[in-house]
Amino acid sequence: MKRIYLLFLTIISFSALLSSCHEKKTYRIGVSQCSQDDWRAKMNDEINREIMFHPEATVEIRSADDSNEKQISDIRYFKDNGFDIIIAAPNEADAITPIIKEVYESGTPVIIFDRNINGDSYTAYLGVDNFGIGKSAAHYGRHLIGKGGKVIEIYGLAGSTPAKERHDGFIEGATEEGISVIASAYGNWNYDDAASVCDSMFTVCKDIDLIYAHNDRMAIAASEMAKKHGLDIKVIGIDAAPEIGIKAVADSVIDATFLYPTEGYRVIRTALAILKGEPYERVSTFPISSPVDISNADILLLQNESLKEDSAKIKTLKSQVDDFWNKHSAQTSLFYAAIAIVVLLLGVLFLFLRIFWQRQRHQKELMEQNRLLEEQRDTQKALNEQLNVATQSKLIFFTNVSHDLRTPLTLIAEPVEQLVKADNLTPQQHTLVKIAHKNVRILHRLINQILDFRKYENGKLDINLEEVSLKPLLADWADSFLAIARKRDIKLRDCLKISAK
Ligand code: FRU
Repeated sequence: MKRIYLLFLTIISFSALLSSCHEKKTYRIGVSQCSQDDWRAKMNDEINREIMFHPEATVEIRSADDSNEKQISDIRYFKDNGFDIIIAAPNEADAITPIIKEVYESGTPVIIFDRNINGDSYTAYLGVDNFGIGKSAAHYGRHLIGKGGKVIEIYGLAGSTPAKERHDGFIEGATEEGISVIASAYGNWNYDDAASVCDSMFTVCKDIDLIYAHNDRMAIAASEMAKKHGLDIKVIGIDAAPEIGIKAVADSVIDATFLYPTEGYRVIRTALAILKGEPYERVSTFPISSPVDISNADILLLQNESLKEDSAKIKTLKSQVDDFWNKHSAQTSLFYAAIAIVVLLLGVLFLFLRIFWQRQRHQKELMEQNRLLEEQRDTQKALNEQLNVATQSKLIFFTNVSHDLRTPLTLIAEPVEQLVKADNLTPQQHTLVKIAHKNVRILHRLINQILDFRKYENGKLDINLEEVSLKPLLADWADSFLAIARKRDIKLRDCLKISAK
């Protein structure tokens, strides 16, 4: 039984070893998004789609919801939980730089994308030429409102780097194009703040030709406020996320938007290149594209629809492939389990066979011993029979001899009898004859006893019990020895006493 357990344990370890051979190293990627909105949702989709093609990696995306504190704790979570690489879009550079520096200096690779930190304590940076976008926006604005037009700028978040760069680029472009920025207000990248500041501004200032918003959400808010205030103002945004920005252009809510690429695929590919020690670009800045306006918005929306369809198909395909792999790995596990069970069964079978063979051998040995014993018994029997025959022959011989002795003894007994009764003998002669007579009787009795023994052997002897007095018998036997005793100077005192009585 001990052996079966051992065998079982060996098989379990063997199967575990086999399955562990199939396990590959998994890279854990942590993505810290500074906020949650349409643009980031698009990017997160791209990240999740890209990761589908890298079974060796998993990704966890966390959103800081525009809070620096939350983003610091998200990044710390990734660091403390041993993620292999951290990707972050810092909410505001001043607040987030220290934690990024700490992680980078601790040895965990860090990728910064979209919004930057202060300095370059990162493994790689991926971003867009925000200054260039700002400048293009100014150029396009002049094209919309003409030289000398008045512009209001709706700023992103004060501390986030794209806002500063988009502003700087626009100011440079505006100076070149001869349009003037008459006011700036913080919309903090969100609709509500932008709507609120626009509402206030449009109440006091109505002579505006163009709103330049740092993203489409704020541009839509500005457009809706202008409408509310009955102002006919051109509006430009940035991002060109299909569902929001491009749709707003197609619906003529805003006049134009500039594509701010999300590049989720590229971020993941860079992360994997870093993790696998493959070559990658440390700083990559994506170039700007031409503006999206009413002339191309519909086409872009259509393209986006077909892209969405293709993406859905890829997703379905991926889930089918995943299903297949799941089935495959289940079957593989089943296969290994089956092998383990077959080996176990063979082991058990072998052990049972061994026990069976041992028993058979043992049985053979017993049978052999039995045979030898029977042989010995037969020899013994034959010897016994021979002994019996010899004993019988001896008995027959003794019986015959006894028979032969009895006849002359009977013949001796008769004259001795007569001599005992004779009265012409001297007392000494009489004593001697008596002794002879007695011994003849004894001999007679002994011979009879031998013959009786034969009868007893043949089952022909009937026991004849009778009461006798012991005293005369003992005296009689003692008398028989008196003469010899006297001769040898032996005194038979007690016997004499008995015989005297
Ligand atoms: C999304 C967003 C975009 C903008 C970018 C700047 O969170 O606000 O609209 O272009 O961030 O970092």
